[in-house]
Amino acid sequence: MKYFLDSAIIEEIKEAYNTFGIDGITTNPNHIKNSGKPFLKVIKEISDWAKSEGLEGLDKFPISVEINPHLNDTNEMIAEARKIAAISKNFVIKIPSTPSGVAAARKLEKEGIRTNVTLVFSAAQAILPAKNNALFVSPFIGWKESNGEDCKEYIRNIVQMYNNFNFKTEIICAAVRTPKQMVDCFVSGAHIVTAGLAVYKDSIEHPFTNKGLGIFTNAWDNTITE
Ligand code: E4P
Repeated sequence: MKYFLDSAIIEEIKEAYNTFGIDGITTNPNHIKNSGKPFLKVIKEISDWAKSEGLEGLDKFPISVEINPHLNDTNEMIAEARKIAAISKNFVIKIPSTPSGVAAARKLEKEGIRTNVTLVFSAAQAILPAKNNALFVSPFIGWKESNGEDCKEYIRNIVQMYNNFNFKTEIICAAVRTPKQMVDCFVSGAHIVTAGLAVYKDSIEHPFTNKGLGIFTNAWDNTITE
């Protein structure tokens, strides 16, 4: 079971690593835009930080970086992925779950460039990436649940298929918006959750914990302790 932070903001990454011991990062074009920095600059900054923490290498700290979403041709996707992968030993290349994207991921995996097939919204979309040895597949949760869909069966089905055929691809539940969704994903058998810093912070809080602390503090203050 692993926690990834979904962000490209270096201060958030450092805080999440120091506080929660996150196991990796997922970025996307939105996160890069929100960082306010140029694409190449921000992905290098994240990679340099990982290296400075002794986390160089995919086995230590995978950082998912998405290719230019304009690309729709398999060969162009591959060329872009090669350029990004050459920058850092920590980079996993995010490729969209489209016919040309899955074909690109298949070829990239054959040449040793690891991929994260993203923008997955159905269990069926998770089959080919696994059959073609993608390192990760990213079924989105928050977007579907905002649309009124319950995601537990969707994740359970992907987990069951992967177990049936002994696929090694790891399932990253993405766009996780709440602690409940986080729990649903892990109970359903997902290997990894990726979420924003606020979701991790919310996950370790409960109003009754604060209420209980108030009650116990009051008791402590009214007890003879020496
Ligand atoms: C996952 O890898 C994506 O980066 C992410 O979860 C996308 O969703 P969001 O940007 O809507 O949170």
